[in-house]
Amino acid sequence: MTAKPDLIAVEPSPSAPPGPAHPDSAHPDLDYRLRQQIILSEFGVEALRGTDVDHLLQRAAELCAAGMGAEFCKALEYRPGADTLLVRAGVGWGPDVIGKARVGADLASPAGFALKTGRPVISNHLADETRFRTPQLMADHGIRRAINVLIENREGAFGVLEVDDTREGMFAEADIAFMQGFANLLGGAIERQRTESLLRAALARQDLLAREMSHRVKNSLAIVASLLALQARAAEAEPAVQAALTDARSRVEAIAGVHDQLWRQGDGGGDGDGAGVPGELDLAPFLEKLVANLAGGRPDRQLACTAAPYRISADRAIPIGLLVNELVTNALKYAYPPDTHPEGGEIRVRAEPRPGSLVVEVADDGVGLPPDFEIGRASKSLGMRVVSSLTRQLGGQLTTPETPRGACFRLEVPLGT
Ligand SMILES: Nc1ncnc2c1ncn2[C@@H]1O[C@H](COP(=O)(O)OP(=O)(O)OP(=O)(O)O)[C@@H](O)[C@H]1O
Ligand SMILES: [Mg+2]
Repeated sequence: MTAKPDLIAVEPSPSAPPGPAHPDSAHPDLDYRLRQQIILSEFGVEALRGTDVDHLLQRAAELCAAGMGAEFCKALEYRPGADTLLVRAGVGWGPDVIGKARVGADLASPAGFALKTGRPVISNHLADETRFRTPQLMADHGIRRAINVLIENREGAFGVLEVDDTREGMFAEADIAFMQGFANLLGGAIERQRTESLLRAALARQDLLAREMSHRVKNSLAIVASLLALQARAAEAEPAVQAALTDARSRVEAIAGVHDQLWRQGDGGGDGDGAGVPGELDLAPFLEKLVANLAGGRPDRQLACTAAPYRISADRAIPIGLLVNELVTNALKYAYPPDTHPEGGEIRVRAEPRPGSLVVEVADDGVGLPPDFEIGRASKSLGMRVVSSLTRQLGGQLTTPETPRGACFRLEVPLGT
């Protein structure tokens, strides 16, 4: 702010105290101005740190008073509804003033004048003023002189920063520059904090909407899954159709599971930790739930899932979930044929983040893979084709490591891709 102040000055009183309270003496005190510069730059650092508005207003009032050797300073916030200025922070004023007292915001008060005209105001002898009345608050405290600057930013006027003193003396134009420095820093910090809180609110809303969406998608997929289950039941006479419908249902349920976890893990309830990034979920509860669902259909099998907590995007969780779904379904179907393994056996799912990759394994102790089995080989069956295509989609590698018994599928997905 470079506007010319309204100088309503009176002659300095011969009884005026010397030193910093009288910076515009015949011999300007350079030390005094230098000290003001240091104080202002200290406040600049605090304003950039992003502490809350109340704290910043209080610090500004304290430092401004210290820099000018003044008894009183206050930061006033404009309340357009009542057209008044509320004392938000200050020094020299009692606890009955801060946060409570109001000053008229009309042109007839020095602070109101600064607010309404946007111009700094110096009044070095309030008692002799013809343009301003002395607001009651200041009269009650015996204030003789006042200096006001506007606190504003791109959003408009926030309020006024005012320094007051009961002693005779002269506020000078250089003091306006000092105070305007505080007011400008305050205006910028207040604007930034308002913008940040709007952004935070927008992000929270976006998160809420994304979770709401996931909830709805999950519900819709659950309906599709139960329709497929109904159709499977109706196709009793045709076991192949029934099996295909059951598989389709289980694939739809695997995707529904991701959306279920997405909305649960974001809200601090359910299985999540409540600190989730929107669109991310913890792979461990997701896989545990998926495996528990598959186990529910086969009480004769022992399904174990060991997964370390690991946050992953929904885009990657969906293919991993579908892939585990296929491999576990296969193990349920083929690992323990009733004729050779009437007592059933264990199926293990393991997910472990390694340096640079995530390893997901599905293993059993059953009959093992057929001798001619080959991953990626053009297969008529849908299952392994789905598995190969999901592996490609993840940019990973699927192998079948040698095991003493049964089958083992190992998926290795590079992290950070
Ligand atoms: N854990 C396992 N133990 C033994 N054999 C397995 C195992 N997993 C897969 N297989 C064999 O691999 C074959 C191919 O599996 P794939 O999932 O592609 O087909 P499918 O399960 O028969 O049909 P679909 O998955 O399309 O319903 C199976 O037919 C089965 O012989
Ligand atoms: Mg299969």
